[in-house]
Amino acid sequence: MNRQRRAVYPGTFDPITNGHLDIIHRALAVFDCVTVAVISNPAKKALLALPERMALIRRVTHGLRGVEVASFDGLLVDFLRTVRGDVVIRGLRAISDFEYEFQMALMNRRLNRHAETVFMMPDEKYTYLSSSLVKEVVRFGGQVRGLVTPPVERVLKEKFRKAVYF
Ligand code: COA
Repeated sequence: MNRQRRAVYPGTFDPITNGHLDIIHRALAVFDCVTVAVISNPAKKALLALPERMALIRRVTHGLRGVEVASFDGLLVDFLRTVRGDVVIRGLRAISDFEYEFQMALMNRRLNRHAETVFMMPDEKYTYLSSSLVKEVVRFGGQVRGLVTPPVERVLKEKFRKAVYF
């Protein structure tokens, strides 16, 4: 019997945006399962704690068959082995993403020769989107409808409402 093909979609997801969701949908069209792998200690300082980032992903992917949400620490290739993943999915929004993604893909392959990376392009309406931009817009009271789902917008608004600025 054929084994299910599992893709791992890693990232910080601080927070998950509609651009990320777009990639998840595209990955589900190709793979049986998509594990959204949330890095627990990102290199960049996250606004949302790991459980908050994971809870939002679970909420906005609820009902999507084949999606799992997990966290990881350490090397992505080790996580890939742990979940018996076949490929790493990365979104390519623009040429500017390419160099960094190319380096990561090759390093991951060097670390584990079975680690293949599949690049997917989100819908062009999301090509300028990033989690940082969304946070900045919400922080200063701007409109993010259509860029993130309502639960994400609510959580961000609440975070910034509570935040104290010096
Ligand atoms: N839609 C919207 N935004 C998108 C996007 C899309 N389709 N694709 C990427 N982005 C944005 C993200 O929101 C993020 O924005 P931000 O910088 O404002 O937060 C940015 O593009 C890229 O971040 P992300 O996708 O979260 O990836 P990352 O670069 O933070 O994460 C890891 C990279 C976690 C996958 C990588 O660091 C890793 O694998 N770490 C584990 C350690 C390891 O194995 N290192 C060796 C790897 S060579």
